[in-house]
Amino acid sequence: MNWNADLYQDKHAFVFNFGESLIKLLNPQKEEHILDLGCGTGELTYEIGKACREVIGLDQSPAMISKAKAVFPSINFIIGDAAHFQLEAPFDAIFSNATLHWVKDYRGAIQSMYDHLVPGGRMVVEFGGKGNVATIIQQIRHELRQRGHQDAADLVHWYFPSIGEYASALERVGFRVTFAQHYDRPTQLADQQKGIQDWIGMFGKAFFDGIPETEQQDIAAQVQEALRPQLFHDEHWFADYKRIRVVAIKE
Ligand code: BEZ
Repeated sequence: MNWNADLYQDKHAFVFNFGESLIKLLNPQKEEHILDLGCGTGELTYEIGKACREVIGLDQSPAMISKAKAVFPSINFIIGDAAHFQLEAPFDAIFSNATLHWVKDYRGAIQSMYDHLVPGGRMVVEFGGKGNVATIIQQIRHELRQRGHQDAADLVHWYFPSIGEYASALERVGFRVTFAQHYDRPTQLADQQKGIQDWIGMFGKAFFDGIPETEQQDIAAQVQEALRPQLFHDEHWFADYKRIRVVAIKE
């Protein structure tokens, strides 16, 4: 996926704004060495870095990493794959906000996190849980099928597990899950006119491979209109986010 780092910062800043409460749960300590997995444009990495000895930000997107390096030059940012990363020293903690649903090889990500923690180290993560943005995804699929794009409609782009599924996968490699929550987080979108269309343009592009740009825009507009009764209220558009938040210790 090619990310537009400027658009992400401009209209989708809620992604890192919501992450601040996850930093409280991480509770970084001043002697700690911490990895921010899927750091995006580095805002949360920077916040974590204020409270610990050393932080490293890792992200698969060269555009995100180059933006992060330009804005926070004192931090070490690295391009890497969350499912198969190899860094030298182990970490006291691994933090990840709004990334792991992109990593369909979730077992690879869990094993890589486990391998990069010191014994007793913790992972503190939040990402899309079962049912995340289901209203929007179902409507995109419906619209694609109506237009004969059956194959595109059937694709699965994200990993949105339940707590039971994810906690079991963590336990299988040797993590002890100490906290787990699956909660609704209706998320107000920045643009009052084109909130859902913008969201689809930023996050739903993967559905539209090979579909001409003008048709993509028509689809996004029709999806938005169909969702108005459910997702537009108080003069704003809301995406039906559902998150899971998990803390686990490497035993
Ligand atoms: C999310 O942050 O929950 C999300 C982002 C992009 C696509 C789907 C979900």
